[in-house]
Amino acid sequence: MNYIVTVILAAGKGTRMKSDLAKVLHPILGLPMLHYTVDLSLNHIKAEKTIVVVGHQADQIEERFGDSRIEFVHQDEQLGTGHAVLQALPLLHGFTGTVLILCGDVPLVKAETLRSFIDTFSRNDSTLAVLTAVVKDPYGYGRIIRGEEGWLERIVEEKDASDEESLIREINTGIFCVRSAFLMEGLKEIGKENVQGEYYLTDLVEVARKRDLRCSAHMVADPVEVMGINTRMDLATATEALRQEKIKELMLAGVTIIDPRTTYLDRTVEIGKDTTLYPNCTLQGKTRVGERCVIEPNSKISDTEIGDGVTIRSHSVITESRIEDEVTIGPFAHLRPLSEVKTRAKIGNFVEVKKSIIGKGSKANHMAYIGDSLVGEEVNIGAGTITCNYDGFEKHQTIIGDRVFVGSNVELVAPVKVGSRSSIGAGTTVTKDVPEGALAISRVKQKNIRGWSKKMELHHKKNRKKKG
Ligand code: UD1
Ligand code: CA
Repeated sequence: MNYIVTVILAAGKGTRMKSDLAKVLHPILGLPMLHYTVDLSLNHIKAEKTIVVVGHQADQIEERFGDSRIEFVHQDEQLGTGHAVLQALPLLHGFTGTVLILCGDVPLVKAETLRSFIDTFSRNDSTLAVLTAVVKDPYGYGRIIRGEEGWLERIVEEKDASDEESLIREINTGIFCVRSAFLMEGLKEIGKENVQGEYYLTDLVEVARKRDLRCSAHMVADPVEVMGINTRMDLATATEALRQEKIKELMLAGVTIIDPRTTYLDRTVEIGKDTTLYPNCTLQGKTRVGERCVIEPNSKISDTEIGDGVTIRSHSVITESRIEDEVTIGPFAHLRPLSEVKTRAKIGNFVEVKKSIIGKGSKANHMAYIGDSLVGEEVNIGAGTITCNYDGFEKHQTIIGDRVFVGSNVELVAPVKVGSRSSIGAGTTVTKDVPEGALAISRVKQKNIRGWSKKMELHHKKNRKKKG
């Protein structure tokens, strides 16, 4: 059994992001960048301790990661990666195992990669090991200098590298395994005599070599896994890599994705088998889609639970809602937070629903607004129906019983109750409760004035004569 403590570096500002948001809080596939390394440590490596070094926007980060298994330490001034790890030392007191150092801005590394890195480290007698990658463009990364037998000799930062050293394409990923006892002593010997005037963690290698302690470098096969995110371009590259991974995973599990190039899914989205996603859909957050559903082009669905056999037609926007089996939504429907659409119900084009329950088998097929309402089962909501839920000060509820027929162009002025099996005539403004089984109608009686067009013609002729 390996005893591992993880230290995750996340105190930096991320200057190159040019952002008001701390770099590690920038989302990748819907989760903050820092989530990925924290998740590896807590749930895959299952470290004894997970220590996160925070500084810039520490409060926001701690608030966002409210897991009691994480221990936060503060680095008030960002004096370099070596100085960042130094802040974690008090929490390592008495620990004799391996310290795994991860960077919050290197989020794509895989659990298997870390496991094999840790395994190799614990089997050889190195004091320190670094995970490396060979990349096409090493610009910005620390370069790996190996000795004659291939052991690690030194890591030189971009800004401190000689012309010859900058040609090296094997780079430091920022991920290290270090024996705890050495880390505690060695860190204190790191100076800041370099171009950036920072305490470099990478200088730990030279400290170890001076004591003739062995250091090793382990190369990863896929450099994308260990890319560091420093700019918004890197963020887009990382997002794309994870997006493709997510899409592949779903397709292998039986989801049809017609155009993988234009399908955007957050990491947390779940989709059942035999569901089809048409091009250009975005599914976000805690969205769960059942089996045999169809999601047509250009729909955006966030934090929503969708049952089996549901059809979401084109251009629908759905947020924080629940949709039961066999429901049809859209095209061009808008389900706002806290909407619940029960089995076999239909929400048609240009219908907006907010904080409402639409009962089993009920239909609102064309152009309607249903807000703060409870709609029973098998209700028909006619075209152009509006619940007037807001009086300028407060929101009020509309309650519609089972099997109600609401005609077209009806206004329901809330608070109001419509009893079961009642009907509301087209064009009615409902301001009073409607009893069960009644017909409510508020329309002005129609008057037909015969010969109207002739009268009008005469009138216009006279006028023309007057004007001459
Ligand atoms: C660092 C490495 C470089 C490596 C690259 C990999 C050093 C000196 N350089 O460079 O060799 O190739 O990562 O991506 O280690 N941080 C703190 N406190 C600080 C400074 C940084 O917590 O005072 C954190 C940052 O938040 C970030 C990580 O450490 O998560 C790396 O810092 P960054 O400034 O991005 O280092 P790089 O220049 O990328
Ligand atoms: Ca970096």
